[in-house]
Amino acid sequence: MTDTDREGLLTAIRSAIQSAPNAESAMTQAVRLLKDGVPYYTWVGVYLLDGNELVLGPYLGKPSPHTRIPLGRGICGAAASEKQTIVVDDVNADARYLACSIETRSEIVVPILDGADVLGEIDIDSDARAAFGDADRRLLEQVAALLAEGIAGPE
Ligand code: SME
Repeated sequence: MTDTDREGLLTAIRSAIQSAPNAESAMTQAVRLLKDGVPYYTWVGVYLLDGNELVLGPYLGKPSPHTRIPLGRGICGAAASEKQTIVVDDVNADARYLACSIETRSEIVVPILDGADVLGEIDIDSDARAAFGDADRRLLEQVAALLAEGIAGPE
């Protein structure tokens, strides 16, 4: 996937989010465009923070057993607690990992932040080992910023 492909994908996601009627629709469309747009994104989902738990929202891929994740658990919980993107090249070597599919090899979790507040996160799994690089991180952090506007609403 080239930088031009990624720019095109980001443009499509920006336009879909900005014309979405509500936050749920914005998240659903972002998930679909990411899943369809990047061949090695095997599972794409959004979790939203509800109290001290992350609750699974729109997703595409195999059903996950982890529909509610406490902040202290999993790679998802760690990214929300640390308010930072976490990339795991080999999920089987990371003690924090909560398995969703036996085929998953690597994962990226990108917090959706409104200033210092965590609204939720984008979680993506790949069946390829070390699938996620700096270009994925940049793309997904931009998508997270767009989603933050859609979720938090206008000031
Ligand atoms: N792997 C995540 C759990 C979510 S599933 O992958 C969809 C984690 O370790 O937090």
